[in-house]
Amino acid sequence: ANLLVIHGPNLNLLGTREPKYYGSITLEAINSNLTRQATQAGHHLTCFQANAEHILIEHIHNAGHQDIAFIIINPAALTHTSIALRDALAAVAIPFIEVHLSNIHGREAFRHHSYFSDIAEGVISGLGPTGYELALQAVFARLLPP
Ligand code: DQA
Repeated sequence: ANLLVIHGPNLNLLGTREPKYYGSITLEAINSNLTRQATQAGHHLTCFQANAEHILIEHIHNAGHQDIAFIIINPAALTHTSIALRDALAAVAIPFIEVHLSNIHGREAFRHHSYFSDIAEGVISGLGPTGYELALQAVFARLLPP
């Protein structure tokens, strides 16, 4: 199946950005690891990052026409602000898993609420880059024929 990983604002800076919260692995390393695992499992995974809300929204609209079976998304700061990005995911009706590197519930109060969690298939927060891998494992399991 075709799978899509979406990273929101500032995640292009992973590796050097607040390593206390986000570790030292780069986005490129996360993406290549996920791509390899998807390929090994017989799937096709693409990764996308943008800092602008409308670019992310348009990418999700396009995914709606591309036979994407599942999305793994870290909306980053847009988690806490963007009804528009949430609405885009709801509009295309592609199932998605929400991932956060840090534990958003253990940080500032403004990070505790997500506009995505109630419509996500599941949420993983606080497990670092492993969270993306676990999300991908869950996607594989969902895509197995019954
Ligand atoms: C984040 C958590 C958000 O609160 C923050 O704005 C991010 C990254 C995470 O992966 O832990 O940019 O989504």
